[in-house]
Amino acid sequence: MTKRPVVSPDEIDAIDLASPHLHAERELDEVWRHLRAEKPVYWHTPRENRPGFWVISRHEDANAVYKDKAHFTTENGNALATLLTGGDSASGTMLAVTDGVRHHQIRNVLSKGFSARTLDHIAHSLQQTVDRLLLEALDKGDCDAAADVSASVPLGAICDLLEVPEADRRFLLSQTAHAWSSDYADAPPEDNWVAKNEILLYFSKLAKERRGSEGDDMVSLLANCRIDGIPLNQVELMANCYGLMIGGDETGRHAITGAVLALIENPDQWRALKNGDVDLKTATEEVLRWTVPSLHGGRTATGDVVVNGQEIKAGDVVSVWISSANRDETVFDRPDEFDLSRTPNKHFTFAHGAHHCLGHHLGRMEVYAVLDGLRRLVGDLEQIGEEKWIYSSILHGMSSLPVRFTA
Ligand code: HEM
Repeated sequence: MTKRPVVSPDEIDAIDLASPHLHAERELDEVWRHLRAEKPVYWHTPRENRPGFWVISRHEDANAVYKDKAHFTTENGNALATLLTGGDSASGTMLAVTDGVRHHQIRNVLSKGFSARTLDHIAHSLQQTVDRLLLEALDKGDCDAAADVSASVPLGAICDLLEVPEADRRFLLSQTAHAWSSDYADAPPEDNWVAKNEILLYFSKLAKERRGSEGDDMVSLLANCRIDGIPLNQVELMANCYGLMIGGDETGRHAITGAVLALIENPDQWRALKNGDVDLKTATEEVLRWTVPSLHGGRTATGDVVVNGQEIKAGDVVSVWISSANRDETVFDRPDEFDLSRTPNKHFTFAHGAHHCLGHHLGRMEVYAVLDGLRRLVGDLEQIGEEKWIYSSILHGMSSLPVRFTA
């Protein structure tokens, strides 16, 4: 409904890609098109006391950086918000910002939490949750797709995975929504810190309760695992529960709200979905390519390295823009069209390489469940008010999308 003003390629040297305002208030498609064509490895000069960084916009170069464990690390942070402001306090403890042997060991422990039995259980409860939320939305008629539908879907799945008691789930939602983004332009950064600490504290208590338990939920697995005979320390334990919660909640929400908006803006695709003309798994991949809930991946070069002919020095910060790679015209036919039957669809929405999203199965299941629910239960979709975009340089999505669902 509302088109955000487009940033022209002439403005590239003036905009700040690390600014949450930019992503909430402006459209960058033309900038990305220009950078992919003309300056695929672009030096973003320092802004407002923050150091400069490299901007990778092509799919092929994104692939090269993601796969190059020898020259790039996430240990100083994996998002510009931390990389440009002194690093990530969870470095070396939380999976996403740990590398080498420890990364491999913790990833092995966490992978066990995604057993076929657990995923089956979650798929079943996802379908029930989605159906309930959509039926309630249909009852109401006018609702907010972000608050009334998307908010509870990933949260329910991730809380099932961690076996978070029902009574605590609303509290966690209120915190995860503010840890890495804000609904407001002028929110103080302290809001992020308070939310992060609340989540860490919550999981510290829960993990303590589950030490020694026989449970196969993710918190019990982390609390009771042994790596070379030694349990995870308290910081690793808290940081990885936090990482699952943060990694899994807000991203999924934005993919779902983004799917609703894309279907409203592309009525032919909505009809194709309704008529059963598209395969739901294929459609899920297109929603993920299109919505890009995580805009970029941040890395630090550990040694001098050349990317697409450009020398990058040890210590330089490099940002890989998924939002651009997913629209690369050399990889995707008609990249600016939302096409639910697109195959192949090698998007980087879940990144790639050693840090490829651990929860990608779950993320996919959530989007699938929502598309399936919309297809079965909703007759028509209409946007009835302006959407609101969140303020973040790493997460991308809406805090509000007023819609009318009709049966
Ligand atoms: C990593 C996106 C769902 C847990 C990542 C990364 C991306 C991503 C882009 C790589 C970060 C980097 O390169 O530095 C998404 C999206 C999701 C989603 C778009 C939903 C649509 C989930 C879920 C979970 C999860 C449901 C948990 C159950 C993680 C973890 C990592 C990760 C733990 C770190 C993996 C590692 O460093 O080895 N995710 N994610 N994500 N994600 Fe997800």
